[in-house]
Amino acid sequence: MSQRYTITAALPYTNGPIHIGHLAGVYVPADIYARFKRLTGNDVAFMCGSDEHGVPITIKAKKEGVSPQDIVDKYHAIIKQSFVDFGITFDNYSRTTAQIHHDTASEFFKTLYEKHEFVEEITEQLYDEEANQFLADRFVTGTCPKCGHEEAYGDQCENCGTSLNATDLINPKSAITGNVPTLKETKHWFLPLNKHESFLREWILKGHKKDWKSNVLGQVKSWIDDGLRPRAVTRDLDWGIPVPVPGGEGKVLYVWFDAPIGYISATKEWAAREGKDWEPYWKDDNTKLVHFIGKDNIVFHCIIFPSMLKAEGSYILPDNVPANEFLNLEGNKLSTSKNWAVWLPDYLKDFPNQQDVLRYALTANAPETKDNDFTWKDFQARNNNELVAIFGNFINRVVVLTHKYYDGIIPEASNFSEVDEETLAAVKAYPDVIASSIERYRFREASQELMNLARLGNKYLADEEPWKLIKTDEARTKTIMFVALQIASALATLSEPFLPFTSEKLNRILSTSSNSWDEISTKTTLLPSGHQIGKGELLFSKIEDATIQEQLDKLEANKKANEAANKQIEPQKELITFEDFTKLDLRVGTIIAAEKMPKTKKLLVLKVDTGIDTRTIVSGIAESFTPEEVVGKQVTVLVNLAPRKLRGLESEGMILMTETPEGQLVFVNPDTTVNSGLKIS
Ligand code: MF3
Ligand code: ZN
Repeated sequence: MSQRYTITAALPYTNGPIHIGHLAGVYVPADIYARFKRLTGNDVAFMCGSDEHGVPITIKAKKEGVSPQDIVDKYHAIIKQSFVDFGITFDNYSRTTAQIHHDTASEFFKTLYEKHEFVEEITEQLYDEEANQFLADRFVTGTCPKCGHEEAYGDQCENCGTSLNATDLINPKSAITGNVPTLKETKHWFLPLNKHESFLREWILKGHKKDWKSNVLGQVKSWIDDGLRPRAVTRDLDWGIPVPVPGGEGKVLYVWFDAPIGYISATKEWAAREGKDWEPYWKDDNTKLVHFIGKDNIVFHCIIFPSMLKAEGSYILPDNVPANEFLNLEGNKLSTSKNWAVWLPDYLKDFPNQQDVLRYALTANAPETKDNDFTWKDFQARNNNELVAIFGNFINRVVVLTHKYYDGIIPEASNFSEVDEETLAAVKAYPDVIASSIERYRFREASQELMNLARLGNKYLADEEPWKLIKTDEARTKTIMFVALQIASALATLSEPFLPFTSEKLNRILSTSSNSWDEISTKTTLLPSGHQIGKGELLFSKIEDATIQEQLDKLEANKKANEAANKQIEPQKELITFEDFTKLDLRVGTIIAAEKMPKTKKLLVLKVDTGIDTRTIVSGIAESFTPEEVVGKQVTVLVNLAPRKLRGLESEGMILMTETPEGQLVFVNPDTTVNSGLKIS
């Protein structure tokens, strides 16, 4: 029975190319699922696009001295091409800077606004006085109040996955200037998640019945149990979709408000192009909506977006959200900033036409239930021991022998032996076996079942030995080759979701087009006698140790280059005049008392004798020094810096320090003890 599916894959941020982690976690499983659903006769809309708003993109643009639009244009093109190259069959790959998306997201916001689904509130938000800017999301880092991770972002902790408000962070720090933010009042619109709690609870319970993955259910339940709070869905930024209601001037929609609506706009864009109606894909209760994502996206797809859809009122909710865990690379976390990754464009340069090998290695070792490690050794083994030695070897033997014995014409089968019958029956069972794994989002298992079918073929040939029988029993040889060719044909179809390029090649070799999935279980003859097959081609080739070593060397080199880059000396700042310099009042000071600021990791509260007075200076040095170590030390103090409040305490001045590449702080002080209060000039 044909079923309508709206399948989405997380919209990638366009601040860099995509790497194997993205492919393994989201896009390969989503593509396997979409291809499988199409092959089994369903009506599929497989949607994705570039996520082009958000803070990281503006930070990158600033760093490179270009506009955010330049950044997203560049990476949108690169990412889109990677998806084509790797056979990811999106029905539409859109982008969130598209007009249709701006319109759709604005409309969505307006509807919720008019339905009074938002709470409008003036609250104090973090502000960077120097950059003259509010700090939200990735513009601010600090310690996660839940797990203590020190590099948590203003919207989420990547360590424990908790979704945060920027003001939740302990010891917040501006990502623009490094300054400690102040608080400033501003108006925003909040989605009252607390209001949706009982609906979410009930819905998640339904998810239980539908076999949601336990990692997903676990995370969602724990968030709900922790208590849901209103969440701001607007920001004081200039890159994004303008807030379309009165009072929204100068503000934009929160990127996580607009991005998931991108799935809807992508569907609209596609439907318009194809002359279809987009609405059934989002509003018909019979449609199954499935979101493929990585685990850091769970809260957004299982709590925030469903609350938005529910509040809007006319949309369906996701049927399932199969989130994967993370993929590591050679034992370390994949990292864009540390260049610890295998980028898809690089892979393709080094392994031209071997997209299926990567798809297979990533599927066979997918991080489905726990984080997993990608190693080049495993990649080589998957290729050499499975794709080459089992799948490729079987097809090669069948094709070579068919050409050798019968000029490539499929022979007539006579009596099937018991083994033949069993083998043909076993082949017929595979579509269901593989389908059942895919239906449960167990793609690793599914890929192994596919390989088992090739194993079956190999074993059949090895046991029946047509190359021996050809000398004594022509009729039996013909039957064996007929059976083997049926297995080859089944492989051509069943491999399509996993190994699309190989499937296409195999169909070319066999001079067929794919059967439908179900035909494999119902028809004994997939390739009839008398059918002429095409020329043989090599499906896979062995990967040598030296090739693998090159990749390992490359990773090591990247790591070194990155470390070196981090040690680079910063360029000189703009020139200043002597008058500018004389504005700074620098003095020798002596630290006379020190204690830790309660509940912080980094801060010491110092009493400093400046010669002028004894004053309090709060300094972020507690990770390098204990209070005892610093008492009695002479330091350089900028005494005329305007006082600032840190954690409620007034800090009157700044102590000059330098930091080694290893992160050790060092005081800048006179090289002999002198009187406090002496001027430094
Ligand atoms: N850009 C986000 C990420 O890479 C994912 C966005 S998914 C969507 O983590 F639902 F918002 F589209
Ligand atoms: Zn955390």
